[in-house]
Amino acid sequence: YGDASQKIDYVFKVVLIGDSAVGKSQILARFARNEFSLDSKATIGVEFQTRTLVIQHKSVKAQIWDTAGQERYRAVTSAYYRGAVGAMLVYDITKRQTFEHIPRWLEELRAHADKNIVIILIGNKTDLEDQRAVPTEDAKEFAEKEGLFFLETSALEATNVETAFVTVLTEIF
Ligand code: GTP
Ligand code: MG
Repeated sequence: YGDASQKIDYVFKVVLIGDSAVGKSQILARFARNEFSLDSKATIGVEFQTRTLVIQHKSVKAQIWDTAGQERYRAVTSAYYRGAVGAMLVYDITKRQTFEHIPRWLEELRAHADKNIVIILIGNKTDLEDQRAVPTEDAKEFAEKEGLFFLETSALEATNVETAFVTVLTEIF
């Protein structure tokens, strides 16, 4: 999935959603710049970053949007979802509550996004296995029931971050 600097065949908008502090911004930093910060600040409003990858011999510019998990800092919902062809629904495997809120995020997503949007459920922070509060099986079962892709990631260790984005982008394709 090398970077392509020449012509762009496709531009795909993908949105990140989920509770505050689950690691959305760090997943994006890892994917877009291969960076990670432990003292990441809560996102205010909307930010986005792009990265161009080659998928099935086409150059795909992924435009990844990131907003605040905290209600008071969130972007205008309809604008955020407009034109999105992929969504990453993120929870923290060490915080049960962030997983329990996933149905709510999914409801918002289904209310505002395109019907054909590709959705992946992501359990982040697998480097904190000793603090795990959400069994992999629970999430897998939920994802199957809802027809979502599912992966566990660690933005810190760079585990599965690339795979998660490539899974979504390939499926959109
Ligand atoms: P909001 O912007 O408030 O919605 O939060 P967010 O989901 O963007 O969370 P953010 O990426 O800012 O990360 C929150 C905290 O979790 C920060 O201290 C990150 O360094 C930390 N963090 C993010 N990903 C990981 C990870 O994979 N492992 C560990 N151990 N910490 C992580
Ligand atoms: Mg953030």
